[in-house]
Amino acid sequence: MSTILTISDLTKKYRHADGDIYALNKVSFAVDKGDFVTITGSSGSGKTTLLLCLAGLIQSSGGTVQFQDFTITSASDSQLSHFRKSKVGFVMQSFALIPYLTAAENVMLPLAQAPMSGRQKQTAADEILRLVGLENRKNHLPKELSAGQRQRVAIARALINKPELILADEPTGNLDPTLSTDILDLLSTINKTQNLTILMVTHSPMAAAYGNRKIHLKDGEVVA
Ligand SMILES: Nc1ncnc2c1ncn2[C@@H]1O[C@H](COP(=O)(O)OP(=O)(O)OP(=O)(O)O)[C@@H](O)[C@H]1O
Ligand SMILES: [Mg+2]
Repeated sequence: MSTILTISDLTKKYRHADGDIYALNKVSFAVDKGDFVTITGSSGSGKTTLLLCLAGLIQSSGGTVQFQDFTITSASDSQLSHFRKSKVGFVMQSFALIPYLTAAENVMLPLAQAPMSGRQKQTAADEILRLVGLENRKNHLPKELSAGQRQRVAIARALINKPELILADEPTGNLDPTLSTDILDLLSTINKTQNLTILMVTHSPMAAAYGNRKIHLKDGEVVA
């Protein structure tokens, strides 16, 4: 097993007129390539803040995050933007699909600046949509899809740039238990067949059970 991500004493202080908040306080853990890490903790415990720091979408206040030989916490904006485009796929609770684009067009969004022809992008989108079981819905708009299908489009979009790391924030938070199981099985299959590293935030013990490593946050600190 090789370490892909090392988080050391990661601290995030939000400044606020009502008083500063330590959303993360000296968080340390390491992730091996192919791990399925689940992150639990009550509301406000720092889970989303942790994912945002790992993606370099917000600046940490202390500590380091190292992804292979790339130090996220000291990278420039353009390095971070390249890192996100080439290495990271995001899956958010609200799906964040563009309403006037079809499933296939949403899935191709991360390839906008890729050196590929339109035909190559279509083929890549077709392949990924087949993987998530939506090959017969590629020309549907988000409003013409069920909630579970929309989330699968969001997962397909997160996978299209062949990321090395998937960051998922409550990917099943808006879904009923049956659909949640489908999505979790899909993530688990991708994790195993492609040895893709996944960090998933969840409130649900059922979802957390899918992880081979479990991180529990309490008031910005790792407690288990
Ligand atoms: N932009 C911000 N400015 C100030 N405080 C913030 C900001 N974003 C988050 N916080 C605070 O930081 C703490 C951690 O927030 P975070 O969103 O990481 O929690 P969470 O674990 O994801 O919660 P939830 O399960 O409700 O999504 C909370 O107390 C929150 O109020
Ligand atoms: Mg959150």
